[in-house]
Amino acid sequence: MTQFLRIWHPFTNSALDPAPIPVERAEGVWLYTKDGRKIMDAISSWWVNLHGHANPRIAMAIAEQARKMEHVIFAGFTHGPAEKLAQGLRKWLAPELTQLFFSDDGSTAVEVALKVSVQHFSNKGRAKKKEIVALEHGYHGDSAGAMSVSDDSPFTEAFRSMRYAVHRVPSPYLYRRPAGTTEEEYLEHCVRALANLLEEKSETIACMILEPLVQGAGGMIVYPAEFLKKARELCTRHDVLLIADEVMTGFGRTGKMFACDLAGVVPDLMCLSKGITGGFLPMGVTLCTDRVEGVFRSENRMHTFYHGHSYTGNALACAAANASLQIFEDEPVFDRIAGIAKINEERLREFRKYSVVGETRQIGTIGAIELRAEDAGYLSGMRPKLYQFFLERGVLLRPLGNVVYVMPPYVISADELHRVYDVITEAVETVF
Ligand SMILES: Cc1ncc(COP(=O)(O)O)c(C=O)c1O
Repeated sequence: MTQFLRIWHPFTNSALDPAPIPVERAEGVWLYTKDGRKIMDAISSWWVNLHGHANPRIAMAIAEQARKMEHVIFAGFTHGPAEKLAQGLRKWLAPELTQLFFSDDGSTAVEVALKVSVQHFSNKGRAKKKEIVALEHGYHGDSAGAMSVSDDSPFTEAFRSMRYAVHRVPSPYLYRRPAGTTEEEYLEHCVRALANLLEEKSETIACMILEPLVQGAGGMIVYPAEFLKKARELCTRHDVLLIADEVMTGFGRTGKMFACDLAGVVPDLMCLSKGITGGFLPMGVTLCTDRVEGVFRSENRMHTFYHGHSYTGNALACAAANASLQIFEDEPVFDRIAGIAKINEERLREFRKYSVVGETRQIGTIGAIELRAEDAGYLSGMRPKLYQFFLERGVLLRPLGNVVYVMPPYVISADELHRVYDVITEAVETVF
């Protein structure tokens, strides 16, 4: 008898979840399924797609590169597409970020940032400075280190023994502030908690990691730039490296190229992935300042950063990233982003009248609606119901528990985006 090799899908329980839908092709915001359906991808396929599926310019760039050179070892060698990408990114980055390290995805970009931070102090003869600060509700990936700095959640529950300890400080999730506290008071409380920790423990803390301005998987929690600015000030004061995880927020999602730009903050290290290749191929990048990297340039071989992945600096992924950056140069990408932001803002306003809506949140191309639920959280019973409801109406939205959010590719038309909000309105009016 033939044994099938069954594919095990991510974040999927095959005993409970519907069977995966075979997709045959995709174009723009649309996925075309084998059974003849057309589904609108309103979440950019886990937040990676920027300029539309099967974007011909990116597809062509990859094909051309594949005919020349697909991949070469990146230790001891370099190549044009990687050098071009470094120069292409240069233009968009704060001048202080001068070093770029390639990896494979968001999680590895985070692992690199954490390891560089710890070894930075070790190379300086300050090995005691090795602890990490992270935020409540944060999410940084699923590998062991990234999972350690992510907050406790159903994703991490089975792996307590594998996660190392981190200092966890409250995030300014203002909607969930304690009753009787004003937004200002709660923001102040969060800043004070961080200040107290750094004051007390700066001798042993190497770095702080956070998602700038939006905590994505934690529920599209948009928080005030004031907190990010204060975190920057406090990290500088206590010689703690600030890591901005821009894996989700990068490449225009929040309205500027990077969320840090909106707050006028320059981190010591920055993690990029997802949109970097326009959603075509996996790639991670960790950036850091000359000060951070300087201590790895040393006569002592033990000061080397002994870290790398087989596909580091993959030439096809670099070609895709270069083509995506070229689209930012040639096409009105920021006008598209501003158009999405405007519709998000207008349509979200309408939701406040519904009693099931607790809060609406918006920043740039990201719009979110937090629904009131007894079982609020990722495992909320609302999630599977809503997911199916949207799919049946031809829209792919994957609520984060009781938080419904929209994060479309930038090529979505106004009519298409209105259609997404119409379907959410229908859900809010009929499902509850
Ligand atoms: C902020 C942030 N960091 C890191 C990651 C992990 O990225 P990847 O899934 O590519 O490993 C994610 C993924 O959603 C993310 O949102």
